[in-house]
Amino acid sequence: MSPSAEAAPALVDVTEEVLDQLLCLAVRDADADEVTPPLGGPGWTPERISWFREYHRAAAAGLDGPARQRSWAISCGGILAGAVRLQRTGRSPVTYPSLEAGIWLARGFRGRGIGTEALRLVKAQAAAYGAALLEAQTTAGNAAALALLRSAGAELGFEAAPGGAAPAVTARLPLR
Ligand SMILES: CC(C)(COP(=O)(O)OP(=O)(O)OC[C@H]1O[C@@H](n2cnc3c(N)ncnc32)[C@H](O)[C@@H]1OP(=O)(O)O)[C@@H](O)C(=O)NCCC(=O)NCCS
Repeated sequence: MSPSAEAAPALVDVTEEVLDQLLCLAVRDADADEVTPPLGGPGWTPERISWFREYHRAAAAGLDGPARQRSWAISCGGILAGAVRLQRTGRSPVTYPSLEAGIWLARGFRGRGIGTEALRLVKAQAAAYGAALLEAQTTAGNAAALALLRSAGAELGFEAAPGGAAPAVTARLPLR
């Protein structure tokens, strides 16, 4: 069967080969600010590209590794669409009472239900780690993220941001 962007999304490990493909996808079809911290200025600066590579390599060690994170690429029938991550939030060395999730999709894959399915998959991963709560951070200006999280049943908490910026939003999704 040939790869198809209409196939059900699946989470795949970020090997070096996948990392190269994921970086190409991100640079080609996502804003740097949607994917990396603001390093070295706007756009896909060399600093952001280095961060992206190092981030996924460090996350390959998993939640118990030094980065306390795990990432996956989202694959639709062999075609990469974006990435998700889980990050430990608590201080406990052995358990994960809550985990924080992050997600980005390339523009060409948005608005087709892939984010909904990827969030369902990452929720299942978090539950399998034993977490009771999944959290996500966004802003009140991110209509797509708010709709995705609301639709998944998240409780949203809004907090005013300084300097007239859009309020920060913390989403909480119970897993049990
Ligand atoms: C946020 C994001 C992951 C959503 O994924 P997606 O595949 O586009 O979302 P879906 O198609 O599964 O839609 C989920 C819900 O959001 C709604 N939605 C999607 N895009 C929307 C938009 N631009 N504006 C308003 N609502 C939108 C859908 O109608 C759907 O609502 P419903 O369940 O009530 O019908 C994607 O837009 C993205 O990668 N954005 C850039 C990175 C980002 O903002 N990440 C989120 C950080 S928390």
